[in-house]
Amino acid sequence: MPGEGNATGSRVTLHVVSSLDGFIARKDNNVSWLDVHGSVYESGVSISEEEAASFVKGIDCYVLGSRTYEHALELGWPYGDTPTVAVTGRTWPSTRESVEFYSGDLETLVRAKLAPRYRNIWLVGGAMLCQGFLSLGLVDEIRLTIAPVLLGDGLRLFGGLLTESNWDLRNVVAYKNGFVDLTYAASSV
Ligand SMILES: NC(=O)c1ccc[n+]([C@@H]2O[C@H](COP(=O)([O-])OP(=O)(O)OC[C@H]3O[C@@H](n4cnc5c(N)ncnc54)[C@H](OP(=O)(O)O)[C@@H]3O)[C@@H](O)[C@H]2O)c1
Repeated sequence: MPGEGNATGSRVTLHVVSSLDGFIARKDNNVSWLDVHGSVYESGVSISEEEAASFVKGIDCYVLGSRTYEHALELGWPYGDTPTVAVTGRTWPSTRESVEFYSGDLETLVRAKLAPRYRNIWLVGGAMLCQGFLSLGLVDEIRLTIAPVLLGDGLRLFGGLLTESNWDLRNVVAYKNGFVDLTYAASSV
């Protein structure tokens, strides 16, 4: 059933942070916009570092494109020791034990390699890889975090090559810092 994971019980969640105008990165890759926040939104929630850490502990595996991998290394590697697969057609030097590189088709990656091993699989970008997963119907859930900023230019969320598909809203969380999390499941209609 779409949105409820596949037959093995694993689920692919696509998570990205987007600006209000639909960009996930500045052209120069500067990520200062991720730290912006407006005035405090009183009705919003905030989560403690412990809550955030416990949430992240529930993620079994990260998947990312090679450009996001490179950028994550530059930023100081936010994925800890959680198993991570970097998708690439190139050969890379090994940098961390938790990282493996994958070249090949994405369907095989998810169905044959990841699903038998991991339940909670997080696809964390970038736009090109997300587009590949979405166009093959490999995403069960989209978690879109909207940042309270207009960037004006940059890398488009999902690019422009997708065909129309319906998604069911499952949850909305507004934070005191002005960010909003939207969770959608792939629709069965
Ligand atoms: N705001 C956010 O939440 C967020 C999240 C993630 C990333 N980002 C930003 O997004 C930017 C990177 O995104 P991007 O779209 O340019 O690149 P990307 O998706 O991270 O990486 C693209 C690369 O991944 C590999 N790849 C992608 N699809 C593939 C496929 N189907 N088969 C084989 N290899 C595939 C290719 O690697 P090779 O060229 O090595 O073959 C391709 O060049 C960075 O600036 C990053 O910081 C933002």
